[in-house]
Amino acid sequence: QELDMQIEALEKEGFDHFMLKEIYEQPKTIKDAMRGRISSKDGKVWLRGVDEYANRFVRADRIIIVACGTSYHSALIGEYLIEELARINVEVEYASEFRYRNPILTERDIVIAISQSGETADTMAALHLAKERGALIYGIVNSVGSSIARLTDAGSYIHCGPEIGVASTKAFTGQVTVLTLMALNLAHRLSTISNTYYRTLLRELELIPGKVEEVLKQSEHIKYIASEIKDHNNALYLGRGYNFPVALEGALKLKEISYVHAEGYPAAEMKHGPIALIDENMPVIVTATNQSAYEKIVSNVQEVLARKGRVIAVVNNGETAIAEIADHVIHIPPTEEPFAPLLAVIPLQLLSYHIAVQLNRNVDQPRNLAKSVTVE
Ligand code: G6P
Repeated sequence: QELDMQIEALEKEGFDHFMLKEIYEQPKTIKDAMRGRISSKDGKVWLRGVDEYANRFVRADRIIIVACGTSYHSALIGEYLIEELARINVEVEYASEFRYRNPILTERDIVIAISQSGETADTMAALHLAKERGALIYGIVNSVGSSIARLTDAGSYIHCGPEIGVASTKAFTGQVTVLTLMALNLAHRLSTISNTYYRTLLRELELIPGKVEEVLKQSEHIKYIASEIKDHNNALYLGRGYNFPVALEGALKLKEISYVHAEGYPAAEMKHGPIALIDENMPVIVTATNQSAYEKIVSNVQEVLARKGRVIAVVNNGETAIAEIADHVIHIPPTEEPFAPLLAVIPLQLLSYHIAVQLNRNVDQPRNLAKSVTVE
């Protein structure tokens, strides 16, 4: 017992929890997910599985991504990335729904499963079904040699090392990184974006690990914000475009480890329901790093404030319009819009971490949850 505790302390490398260690590993794990796969100098993105099945990818009618939990949120970001950059139709489904609804699939479809563990029962079952119906099946997986990795025709590991904290953090950014590489690889093959924009995106992607490092420096400030909102029983997370799945993921992180009820919503959808809940007891976390639709996000923030909601805003360095009216502001470095989630999710991970610690929750092993759900 004593020895186990000492080993665990060593494994945490000085961090209080595995989750915090894993959050701080992200500059490195994002780099590892890109290693050997991108060269902005040569204007190249390599992803072996995609390169090997390039014909299937460029002729695909559809890409369907199946996943559960946090992996489902990275899948949604993949949908935005692949549709916008490579102009291939993408659908995202909860694996548990997909497997039971007799989906329409053909040999011209590609089904991608995203899974940290590579062992999630519903995701496995969805893949079996897709394989049976002739689709190409592809895995984006962390655990090397896992069941999903072995079942798929091709795939890409995210290479972020073992993730111990039940709440997924570095696996999420690793998955998003691989999806970004996939979208860029396909966009280049299909000439769906200009060469100049492609080059700009490649250069910017290589800067992301350094920018994540910058965001992590906000941890003390975020800890203070956590102390201000931790006693509320609810929270609403808002975002538009690429930041909408980030809002879902922020809310999931808070639910999982602090047991505070939270919902993620597309900012503009707020007026169709959640706005009725807003009063001084409702913290609203707004991720507003988008350049497009920016004015619309400012007005969403004003709508929240007019109802006495408390706004915590994640904005780009130098942003003033929202920074001046929000109750709390977290500044992050600007980036190209398709890469926004890789930076914007970090403060939300830290916020849920600090709230959970301040509420004395079991951060690494929250009640009722398992790291890997291998049964239905
Ligand atoms: C469980 C974990 C989550 C994870 C989900 C999907 O619910 O607690 O952190 O996102 O399963 O797991 P997978 O290994 O397939 O990504």
